[in-house]
Amino acid sequence: MDNKYKSIPVLPSEITPKSLYLNRRDFLKAAGIVTGSALLAACAPKATGTPAPGAINESAYVGKTDELGSPLNSYEDITNYNNFYEFSTNKEAVAPLSANFKSHPWTVEVSGLVNNPKTYAIEDLLSKFPQEDRIYRLRCVEAWSMVIPWRGFPLASLLKEVEPTSNAKFVRFETLTDPEQFPAENNAFYPWPYHEGLRLDEAMNDLAILATGLYGEPLPPQDGAPIRLVVPWKYGFKSIKSIVKIELVDTQPTTFWKDIAANEYGFYANVNPDVPHPRWLQNSERRIGELARRPTLLFNGYAEQVAYLYEGMDLKLNY
Ligand code: MTE
Repeated sequence: MDNKYKSIPVLPSEITPKSLYLNRRDFLKAAGIVTGSALLAACAPKATGTPAPGAINESAYVGKTDELGSPLNSYEDITNYNNFYEFSTNKEAVAPLSANFKSHPWTVEVSGLVNNPKTYAIEDLLSKFPQEDRIYRLRCVEAWSMVIPWRGFPLASLLKEVEPTSNAKFVRFETLTDPEQFPAENNAFYPWPYHEGLRLDEAMNDLAILATGLYGEPLPPQDGAPIRLVVPWKYGFKSIKSIVKIELVDTQPTTFWKDIAANEYGFYANVNPDVPHPRWLQNSERRIGELARRPTLLFNGYAEQVAYLYEGMDLKLNY
């Protein structure tokens, strides 16, 4: 691996304490003060992406929780605190920078070791596969988390359709390359396009979905429009956004963050409170919108559904 990549990635110091940020916004709201961006959104029709304030029917989700009883994060939280390095390393800058992102027309090429390779228009994926609502926890490797009501369909449904051959062992995913739309893709420091991978049996697990929406609305650009992976038992960086390519391969693919710093970001990236990140602990997390920290759960609380995938593996070595 090139040494130039060695020292960067997601620094905890880059994280604005969300509690402060939210408190500020809540304060402004309570005081009846509209922030600049909200004002702009109210005055101008949105080119694409994030529905205007009020367009989201959050009331339909009132009282909903994840299966552990935790309330959902608000649409506001989920769409204004984002990791999307193609736009910015500043989480609060992603939403405004992505406002005009064009996620239509869009195709996803599914290729490699499959009997039925096919390039799907996003409309085909939306009509062919019944869209389901799934409430999942998202746990970032930076030790913050949210509870998100996604809409999407199991990755397994798509994989079954293209029929992986017996040689297919892994699935590789790639984000759109388009430096005009993704300004940071001009920064040669990063190994663009963003790329990720799963073992085929992980990809076939029912919890792994391709998300096309949240809060019942199409995915906004900052959350990975028009289609992204969501693998809730792994750190958030596995959940690659704005996917254009899915390839079945026979060897373990490289991944974006592993290419940048292999000692910090492994291929598996399973949420595990007992395996600290080299620069910070992973045994607790800050749920966005809460002040006290929560204990982090093995496999992000999904052990019952996924632990079988790792039987006999040393989770410390395979981090
Ligand atoms: N996908 C792409 N293409 N680019 C990114 O920078 N960031 C990842 C992941 N997917 C990222 C990405 C990280 S680090 C996290 S934590 C999640 O997206 C964040 O998803 P969210 O912004 O919808 O909460």
